[in-house]
Amino acid sequence: MRGATAEGHEVVGIQDGWRGLVENDVEPLDRDSVRGILPRGGTILGSSGFNPFREGDGLEALQTTSSALGLDGVVAIGGEGTLGIAYRLNVEHGYPVVGVPKTIDNDLAGTDATIGFDTAVHICTEAIDRLHTTAESHNRVIVLEVMGRYAGWIAAASGIAGGADVILVPEVPTPIEDVCDQLLRRHEGGRDFSIVVVAEGYPLTRRSGEQEDPVVQDVDEYGFARLGGIGRVVAEEITKQLGFETRVTALGHVQRGGTPTARDRLLATRLGLEAARLAHTGTWGRMAAVRGNEITHVSLEEATRERRSVPPAWIEAGRIVA
Ligand code: F6P
Repeated sequence: MRGATAEGHEVVGIQDGWRGLVENDVEPLDRDSVRGILPRGGTILGSSGFNPFREGDGLEALQTTSSALGLDGVVAIGGEGTLGIAYRLNVEHGYPVVGVPKTIDNDLAGTDATIGFDTAVHICTEAIDRLHTTAESHNRVIVLEVMGRYAGWIAAASGIAGGADVILVPEVPTPIEDVCDQLLRRHEGGRDFSIVVVAEGYPLTRRSGEQEDPVVQDVDEYGFARLGGIGRVVAEEITKQLGFETRVTALGHVQRGGTPTARDRLLATRLGLEAARLAHTGTWGRMAAVRGNEITHVSLEEATRERRSVPPAWIEAGRIVA
């Protein structure tokens, strides 16, 4: 907002993502409305999985509202879903939109980081530290399930940072028998507790090559699968195969709340300024991005073409330090 007003633009905030644009649910945004939000997590504008392409006259309504409001363009802030829609609007309908990568999942291509990821990793790392206390004093295996949808970024990063003994991610689905062997070796070597971090998208895999689908709790109001529950399945397997006393913690939405880390605030500020610059210069169809320590921009097509996976080197690092 501040970047755009500094260039003399008037800014409105659209409520609940694309829904607000279709239903003309917008509010003026000025310096006062964004004052003091740096330490606040979440979004002051709300969020939804609303997809104008799936609603009868959604697209028409979106264009009508945009004209009625006299919008020069839209800055879309979100993950794969939000920016996938932004891409289609731009490429199929010439709609003027720029993107800002914001998801704890860190799975957007074209950028080294997305807003929210660092905070989620911080929370999960702290949880691993806390779980170590009770795992150690009660001689238990504790399985921590973290979010990330079909990418293992949060599990890999927090698992390495927290010193987890096993990290399970969708990108390289370790067979459960290997997990049990690893735990057994560790316990035979004199340790009597272990921490296993599992990404919610990890598909239970067996040495035979058999693989189950990721565990889904249910489907949300927009038809998206709600992942969750694999932690319990992994814990049951460990108990069954090893007989170790095992407990499960699923962090859930705790990892999406609270105050953002300084790194996330800085990233959000820098990406926001870049998005304002792109909009001011009419450079539509792009997403503000960070590469190394530099802010840049990539096409929305590149950003949403395929999911960015955890690279093998990270997975290897997790194995080596375990
Ligand atoms: O995409 C972000 C994310 O937090 C995922 O990691 C998680 O699977 C999902 O959203 C949870 O969605 P909801 O808040 O709808 O349960």
